[in-house]
This record gives sequence, C-alpha cells and structure tokens, in this order.
Amino acid sequence: MANFRVNGVEYRLDVEPEMPLLWVLRDELGLTGTKFGCGIAACGACTVHVNGSSTRSCVTPVQAVEGADITTIEGLAEAVNGTAPDAPALTRVQQAWIDYQVPQCGYCQSGMVMAVTDLLNNNPNPSDADIDRSLSNICRCGSTPRVRKAIRSLVSA
Ligand code: FES
Ligand code: FES
Repeated sequence: MANFRVNGVEYRLDVEPEMPLLWVLRDELGLTGTKFGCGIAACGACTVHVNGSSTRSCVTPVQAVEGADITTIEGLAEAVNGTAPDAPALTRVQQAWIDYQVPQCGYCQSGMVMAVTDLLNNNPNPSDADIDRSLSNICRCGSTPRVRKAIRSLVSA
C-alpha cells in the first residue's frame, strides 16, 4: 500500500512499491499534466514537487514518497495561491509563461514550470548563472531563452 497526498487529496493505493511515481500519477490517478520524457532523470519533463522540492518522478519509486505531500502541475495554483474563492487561477510563474509565450510544443513545460517555481522559492532573485546552474530541464523546441526572459520578468517584478 502506498499512502500520500497529491494536490491536497489523500490517497491509499495498492501499487508495487517500486512503481515510479510518474506512472502512479499518470496511470493510477489520471494526472497526465506531468510528462514522460527520458525516464532516466535527465530531461525534467516529469518534475513534480515532493514536500515542496522539485523531484524527477520518473526515477522516484512510490515507496520513497510514503506520507509525502506531492504537488503536480494540476494542483500548483491552489498550492501556491490557496483555495479562497478569489484566489488567482494561475501562479505568477504560469502567468509569466503566458505573457512571454514561453511554450512551443508545450511537452516539457509543466516540468519547467514546476522547476522554476521551486527555483524562485529558494532563490527569489537568481542571476543568469543561478538559473543555468539550477534549471537543468531540457526543451527540444528551444524555449530556453524565453524561459530566462520570463524568469527575469518575475525577478524584477
Ligand atoms: S522523464 Fe523524468 S527526467 Fe526525463
Ligand atoms: S516547448 Fe517543446 S519541448 Fe519544450
């Protein structure tokens, strides 16, 4: 049995302990916003937050998140903005992604948004070097310059 919370909801699931968290999220819970890219912790498409920290769910066995609070892209706005009726539907990172038209095909972007949210939580004013060092997510479409621009807009805001 696996016990954890995802986007504020408690789950108790009968899954193999070695099952990657990514498969649990996508196949068991239907949360398909988190993507499979490489499966070897290299691309970041599968990034979610486990107890607030960016985690590559493709290489995280579900037994490693026993009792944890997990946030996926589907629950990010509520996790960041709260659940009040007048809470914004998007986080400031998500809004910047729209304002700067960051995504191209979009496949990598949920992982990118999760990673950037964590980066800014830990370092609200990152330099370009900090961004390069902390953000190892890969975008095959070449959105990285727009990712940087969107982050810069949040830093100077
Ligand atoms: S799918 Fe997990 S890092 Fe690429
Ligand atoms: S927007 Fe297409 S892979 Fe990143």
